Amino acid sequence: MIAIEMEGLTKDFGALRAVNDLDLVIEESAIFSLLGPNGAGKTTTVRMLTGLLRPTIGGAKVLGLDIAENLQEIRSRVGHLTETPALYERLTVRQNLDFFAKLYKVPKTEIKSRTEEIVDLFELPEKLDEPAGSLSKGMKQKIAIARAMFHKPELIFLDEPTASLSPESAKVVREQIIKLAKKEKRTFFICTHNLFEAERLSTRVGIINHGMLIAQESPAELREMRKDETVTIIRLATWESRIKDFFEDMNIEIFEQNQDKKYVSVFIKDIEKQTPSIINSLTKNNFQLVEVKHEFPSLERIYLELIELEGVPRGENNMEES
Ligand SMILES: Nc1ncnc2c1ncn2[C@@H]1O[C@H](COP(=O)(O)OP(=O)(O)OP(=O)(O)O)[C@@H](O)[C@H]1O
Ligand SMILES: [Mg+2]
Repeated sequence: MIAIEMEGLTKDFGALRAVNDLDLVIEESAIFSLLGPNGAGKTTTVRMLTGLLRPTIGGAKVLGLDIAENLQEIRSRVGHLTETPALYERLTVRQNLDFFAKLYKVPKTEIKSRTEEIVDLFELPEKLDEPAGSLSKGMKQKIAIARAMFHKPELIFLDEPTASLSPESAKVVREQIIKLAKKEKRTFFICTHNLFEAERLSTRVGIINHGMLIAQESPAELREMRKDETVTIIRLATWESRIKDFFEDMNIEIFEQNQDKKYVSVFIKDIEKQTPSIINSLTKNNFQLVEVKHEFPSLERIYLELIELEGVPRGENNMEES
């Protein structure tokens, strides 16, 4: 099943085209991460998909429902952690969750058990009966994440969910997202700046710049596209300068050599095929190997390259006459 289908989704704020002609299909139980620089249009995209903003042009279907026609139903079936979520500071955590549960028509008899379940799921602090205003920023964020998932939505939008979380809290949230997507087929649409997280978490990533989608692949596919940039590092027990000739004879390009740290790094064209024979002949030629490792281009490197390559000044190439 398809969870989200955007067709030419576009948003203008006056003369500014914040989101430009997005065509994007997201499958059920995907964990989709939308990456992009500040002001790229991520939050605006989510706000259109959750009915907080009306598209200027184009549209989308969310859970098979048209955002122009079925907003009420969409709202009741999706969860949305906004960019700057607010809790009722004077109400306790439990009262905040209760309030939200009622708003989303969670049956009264289920609220208590669901509260316990979700507190457990996200390892929320035992501060349920304290005023939300007395909690730390990260704790509030965790409660806001739990709140967005309280009514067990099929599709959950999380706008920078882990930005203010400690590494251990972020890990808990990531683990729950993966579990919910796998076990319960829930779909996640996440806006994030955390490339490390996107790489580990997502089944697919989209990169948006100046409102335009410039890439959409799985993290592995993105790496595959740039596999030529993989560098193989060969570290020796003792440095031998003849290693340079060794690789030149084999017609393998050397990227870098470091006598102090006793390694060379090279570009191997077909890693799977060539690596075993290279290791063999290194050994045959009496090089004492300590380590052979491949460094695949990180999502961060790919992201930065794409943004740099594709970056066009806003308003020059991407604006249509209005
Ligand atoms: N309500 C609004 N009125 C006018 N301009 C807006 C409005 N909301 C967003 N914008 C503009 O639209 C562009 C996209 O903003 P958006 O918040 O979608 O970016 P973002 O990708 O979420 O950025 P960030 O990573 O900083 O959260 C920005 O230039 C922003 O200033
Ligand atoms: Mg944003």
